[in-house]
Amino acid sequence: MSKQAPRKVDMEKIVSLCQRRGFIFPSSEIYGGLSSCWDYGPLGVELKQNVKQAWWRAMVQGRDDMVGLDASILMHPQVWEASGHLKGFSDPLVECKSCHRRWRADELKDSNCPSCGGEVTESRLFNLMFKTFMGPVEDSASVVYLRPETAQGIFVNFQNVLNTTRKRPPFGIAQIGKAFRNEITTGNFIFRSREFEQMEIEFFVKPGTDKQWFDYWTQERLNWYVKLGIKRENLRLRQHTEEELAHYARECYDINYLFPMGWSELEGIANRGDFDLVQHTKSSGKSLDYFDEETRERFVPYIIEPSAGVDRSVLAFLCEAYDEEPDNNEIRVLLHLHPSLAPIKVAVLPLSRREKLAKVAKEVYADLRQCWMVQYDDAQSIGRRYRRQDEIGTPFCVTVDFQSLEDEQVTIRERDTMNQIRVPISAVKATLAAKLSGEELFVLPPDGKIWKMEKPNSS
Ligand code: GAP
Repeated sequence: MSKQAPRKVDMEKIVSLCQRRGFIFPSSEIYGGLSSCWDYGPLGVELKQNVKQAWWRAMVQGRDDMVGLDASILMHPQVWEASGHLKGFSDPLVECKSCHRRWRADELKDSNCPSCGGEVTESRLFNLMFKTFMGPVEDSASVVYLRPETAQGIFVNFQNVLNTTRKRPPFGIAQIGKAFRNEITTGNFIFRSREFEQMEIEFFVKPGTDKQWFDYWTQERLNWYVKLGIKRENLRLRQHTEEELAHYARECYDINYLFPMGWSELEGIANRGDFDLVQHTKSSGKSLDYFDEETRERFVPYIIEPSAGVDRSVLAFLCEAYDEEPDNNEIRVLLHLHPSLAPIKVAVLPLSRREKLAKVAKEVYADLRQCWMVQYDDAQSIGRRYRRQDEIGTPFCVTVDFQSLEDEQVTIRERDTMNQIRVPISAVKATLAAKLSGEELFVLPPDGKIWKMEKPNSS
């Protein structure tokens, strides 16, 4: 993590918004929380789901050279021996001789404990994998590990996928799922936790073409973040030095994001060469190579791996979207989330709770709910309700007022510009569909004129 001037968004504001509005809570909070474990609340689970959905849509469903997989978290223990994780997936650890707190040796400035100043022990390697036991007997024969990366589930299924699909290198297998690491140092909210989710692609290519695929995937992954609203200047590529390369990697770049605590890793893109397939072939005795019928060549594919963190992506999208604007004597907090990521797409707000108005508003609400996550809110002033929706990133509010009863039109208000347009109730769904899918056009009224844009009002 490099040192850098802090961004205008600080982590406290993000954490506070997340807890206040139900995005993310500390795990087991009523028992005082469990260190570095987090629960996604009603809005957080929608946001996280949308991030995964956007990735799956772009990386799997939108491509003809990718298929998906959902492998189990518990795997045969030999997997971790072959992958090198049993031997190599460890961090150097020191312990304070006074307070017994443990620290990552490479993160200490000197040989004193950052907490109490006491002397620390010599460093020793600490394996980051969580160990558990399968079945009722706790002996060494029943040891299994919670996977520290989703990637291995893909490698061990390489031949299964080849045999059951018509995919041939270059092609990829993608997976989203939980991973677990007994990290020594956690922190920065959901940035580094012990239970997290990854979105990983293992892309199998012919040796010799790996460099060009590595460059391709680096660009492709940068573009994905930019398309979903992250400014390019807040993303950087950082090449791993020879010393920091993981045991399996020939080359690796991190996509770093300017988080509030400074530039930090959002995603890693590695050229894993043939390391994993060769290792699993040796260990399992099953051949994991590929025979190209056309060229009559047999080869072990090289693997390009773009590996993103779901939780870090959620955090990056939240930090990027967070904004504050002066609003008379108050501050308008808003999340400029991309519409496809926003947890709630539309809020339906009746101007009053009067029955006649509520009836129309509830009909509109029921209709829109068929398509999107929609909230109905009739509590407090309309201004406050707009603010509540701005704060959780809802792109559109539909307001039903007394005039709606006469002209059968409602107002659609846009989050970022606060622009408002009047739209017939019969055209609301189509108008919102166009707006949410990024089209600038509004639905045209029967006479062919574009709906009149009204000046934003002060509320
Ligand atoms: N299969 C390769 C691999 O796992 P990694 O760089 O160790 O590579 C990939 O992890 C991504 O997973 C990281 O860029 C990060 O987004 C996420 N990640 C890793 N450790 C994490 C942790 N402790 N908490 C949250 N996210 C984590």
